Amino acid sequence: MSATIIDGKAFAATVREKVAAQVAKLKEDHGITPGLAVVLVGEDPASEVYVRNKGKQTVEVGMNSYEHKLDAATSEAELLALIAKLNADPAVHGILVQLPLPKHLNEDLVINSIDPAKDVDGFHISNVGLLATGQKSMVPCTPLGCLMMLRDHHGSLSGLNAVVVGRSNIVGKPMAQLLLRDSCTVTVAHSRTKDIESVCRSADILVAAVGRPEMIKGDWVKPGATVIDVGINRIPAPEKGEGKNRLVGDVDFASAAQVAGAITPVPGGVGPMTIACLLANTLTACARANG
Ligand code: GUN
Repeated sequence: MSATIIDGKAFAATVREKVAAQVAKLKEDHGITPGLAVVLVGEDPASEVYVRNKGKQTVEVGMNSYEHKLDAATSEAELLALIAKLNADPAVHGILVQLPLPKHLNEDLVINSIDPAKDVDGFHISNVGLLATGQKSMVPCTPLGCLMMLRDHHGSLSGLNAVVVGRSNIVGKPMAQLLLRDSCTVTVAHSRTKDIESVCRSADILVAAVGRPEMIKGDWVKPGATVIDVGINRIPAPEKGEGKNRLVGDVDFASAAQVAGAITPVPGGVGPMTIACLLANTLTACARANG
């Protein structure tokens, strides 16, 4: 293995420490405690794990955590009423509605009902538009975490060829916007891209966010490139015992690490940075709300 491993777990711990220090200062100087409300509809097991981790880490940095767990059969009107209440609550500075929502709920309508100033996910159309036009906005947590690791590793990203594989609203599109803002030459590749292997091989920075286990192989990677793996996929691991799973990314780590200059592992890469950035966004929302 030749690549430097980018340690997202350690990086996230330093981000959380900085957030905790600023939360303590806000409390001491102004008597304000940032508050994050997380709304979970239904019982998706992966979402329940994420929401539990978010709540735990919110409290660990000294913020208030408000969890709202709603029945899978909750109506759109009930969910919108809860969001309206949270929008009006001065103790709540950040609101996150865990996705995906049950099929009968209109995700766009729900997300766009959140006060953009409290939209710590950065998914509201106002924040999407502000980011796309280079204005101050809430920035989606996963791409923000990726950008922080890239800046830390490279210093300036200016002029680098960046390829983002995946075009989701949560990761691919905002990631492309952030890399463009940092003066990369950006390509967004996806399931219909022709000769995707060669496109990936042109990348100085390769961000994989497709949700396909180990799709990107070592021979798709330009020697020395930086590879950021956003994927979190559970695949069967019979070697660990009957019915056991293991977590893998969208990148075939073993082969890619032979070629890349630097790479994020799964787990312990992008994942921990996402929640750290959520806490940082909540702090930002609180600071902006209080002038
Ligand atoms: N589901 C998967 N990732 C995310 C995220 O970043 N935010 C929300 N709200 N839901 C998610």
